[in-house]
Amino acid sequence: MSQLQDNFGRRFHYLRLSVTDVCNFKCGYCLPDGYQSSGKPQFLTLSEISHLVSAFSQVGTQKIRITGGEPSLRRDFTDIIRIIADNQKITTLATTTNGDRLAKHAKTWYEAGLRNINVSVDSLDPRLFYQITGENKFHQVMQGIDTALEVGFDRVKINAVLLKGLNDQALPQFLNWIKTTPIDLRFIELMETGLGSDYFQQHHVAGRQIKTWLLQQGWQLDPVNIADGPAQNFSHPDYLGRIGLIMPYEKNFCASCNRLRVSAKGKLHLCLFTEYGVTLRDLLVSPLQQAELIARLHGQLVTKKQTHFLHQGVTGVTQHLASIGG
Ligand code: GTP
Ligand code: 5AD
Ligand code: SF4
Repeated sequence: MSQLQDNFGRRFHYLRLSVTDVCNFKCGYCLPDGYQSSGKPQFLTLSEISHLVSAFSQVGTQKIRITGGEPSLRRDFTDIIRIIADNQKITTLATTTNGDRLAKHAKTWYEAGLRNINVSVDSLDPRLFYQITGENKFHQVMQGIDTALEVGFDRVKINAVLLKGLNDQALPQFLNWIKTTPIDLRFIELMETGLGSDYFQQHHVAGRQIKTWLLQQGWQLDPVNIADGPAQNFSHPDYLGRIGLIMPYEKNFCASCNRLRVSAKGKLHLCLFTEYGVTLRDLLVSPLQQAELIARLHGQLVTKKQTHFLHQGVTGVTQHLASIGG
């Protein structure tokens, strides 16, 4: 079966699958007012997820990251992991979480087949953590990260959104943490979403400044990883951890795009920002629809745009990233 490819020669072996858009945190850059429910949510069922994963795996998908909202809020989250892990073509199974349930469940998830975890930690100061996320759960999240490291996850990555006036002076504190902790700490440049324009104006800071500083301090850009995703990764002989910078406003950021997204209600999104998404759900009813589903994926792929338009001040149609899993 031919692999998913767009008109710019980019290949897509990575699917970010959102399983809910509900979240129990209220991060200022994402869902400052918490989750606004619009009726009873109808998220993809286990059977629909199974059909979806089967089709994607036949056209080259090797990596799946389960996203949200907060994916672990789904009661059947462990079953979702199991179903995806059962597919032999999926060699990397990951999730991105706010860490709330990690301490309690990391072992169960690992045993079900999850291997990589990304956790959001925007501050190492419990009070600032509360100010940014609206939840007083700093210690619980840190405990969760320790548990994940003990359980043996292949990779634990930490996401910190860079925020002017909030955590932008905290680099030394973060560096101190990764001196002796083998994690990948990624700083993410704040992106402007439909609902987040005011927050963006107040708090956006360019990641480039950090890059310059890291290079001055003897951190080395790791050339191998540049093509493998959005982060530019840096390492230093004195540190067990590594640093990644995700800078969506930099030129050519989208040139290495290798990922597609499916929302919790089964819409294919070719980009975080550029379109409303196309439903796949009508083709997730039965395994007999796989050929038609695959044809729709190929048909959509050729419409993928070369880049987002954030750097031109256009937020696109996305109201907040929880709606399609970041
Ligand atoms: P890996 O799978 O390990 O490469 O991690 P990841 O960075 O793709 O996953 P994660 O869920 O941790 O992503 C962190 C954040 O980076 C997302 O929530 C987005 O804010 C941002 N991000 C990830 N992929 C993209 C992308 O394709 N475009 C843009 N603009 N931002 C992205
Ligand atoms: N800008 C950048 N990253 C964001 N995230 C959510 N909203 C934004 C935004 N506006 C990302 C953060 C968080 C992950 C779940 O989603 O990286 O860690
Ligand atoms: Fe929830 Fe993640 Fe959005 Fe924070 S960034 S509100 S943890 S979905």
